[in-house]
Amino acid sequence: MAPARLLIQNNMTLTAWVNGRFLPLAQATVHIEDRGFQFADGIYEVIACFGGVFLDLPAHLSRLQYSLDALQIPLPLPFPALTALLHEAYRRNPFDHAMLYIQITRGVAPRSHRIEQPLTPTMVITVRELPEPSEQQLAQGASAITRADIRWQRCDIKSIALLANVLGKQQAVQAGVDECFWRDDQDYMLEGCSSNALAVINGVLVTHPLGHQLLGGIARQMTLRLAARHAIACEERAWRLDETGLSECMMSSTTEAVMPVCHIDGQAIGNGKPGPISMMLRQWMLDEFSALRQQKEQS
Ligand SMILES: Cc1ncc(COP(=O)(O)O)c(C=O)c1O
Repeated sequence: MAPARLLIQNNMTLTAWVNGRFLPLAQATVHIEDRGFQFADGIYEVIACFGGVFLDLPAHLSRLQYSLDALQIPLPLPFPALTALLHEAYRRNPFDHAMLYIQITRGVAPRSHRIEQPLTPTMVITVRELPEPSEQQLAQGASAITRADIRWQRCDIKSIALLANVLGKQQAVQAGVDECFWRDDQDYMLEGCSSNALAVINGVLVTHPLGHQLLGGIARQMTLRLAARHAIACEERAWRLDETGLSECMMSSTTEAVMPVCHIDGQAIGNGKPGPISMMLRQWMLDEFSALRQQKEQS
């Protein structure tokens, strides 16, 4: 049986993992000389969990390893122990639709740019309810602005250094929209502040190729997989908003699955309504979540 949906009104009841133990969220603290706090010297992952089933866990773990390797931070626990810990964190915070946040920093040391070896990494795990869009949000689709990319050149690392993304998202909020997409210096669309960006151009699902300019999103990968499975042609290539034949835009992320984006920089995309391919991809993704969950409930 799936656990009942929890209605947690007060953060005090949430439990977090911090450096070797579970604590009530308010007591789960780290040292002020943690290099994550001092230098954003760390990485993170966000994993969706539906009724206790983790979505694409191996892909998240392998991206976690990739990010750690890029910063030469050791994995604090082998994958089987980390997986067990994630399950335990969920068991203690059993939202029906949950997102698990893992943050690993290089550890605590007197503030110095130089990395004093060896350090013990700091690991934190929190669980929150996964937000769901309202019917109205879905019916009208999301909207976005675009901005010239001001981020560093290793956006493939899921680094906790997210200041540019925070500023971009804040500009989106101030403009009354949901996301800010980054453009490169030739106006090619890279990704959002917390999502990947995709478009339908002449019936082909198009998204920027992986590389140092964007994060290899797990939902992006799943979107491409689902499109291919349903015989929608896909192309990983640089694309621009002013291309002829562009009929739909969408964003993908673990927290929002696939969301149609119907207005960008104040202009309607297609007819300004969620397009058929975006909505099918969203539905196929939600169906996949339900199927995974059912498999677990029947096993
Ligand atoms: C910059 C950026 N791109 C893309 C994504 C989507 O990644 P995923 O699909 O793994 O959630 C995120 C998610 O937080 C992000 O921060």
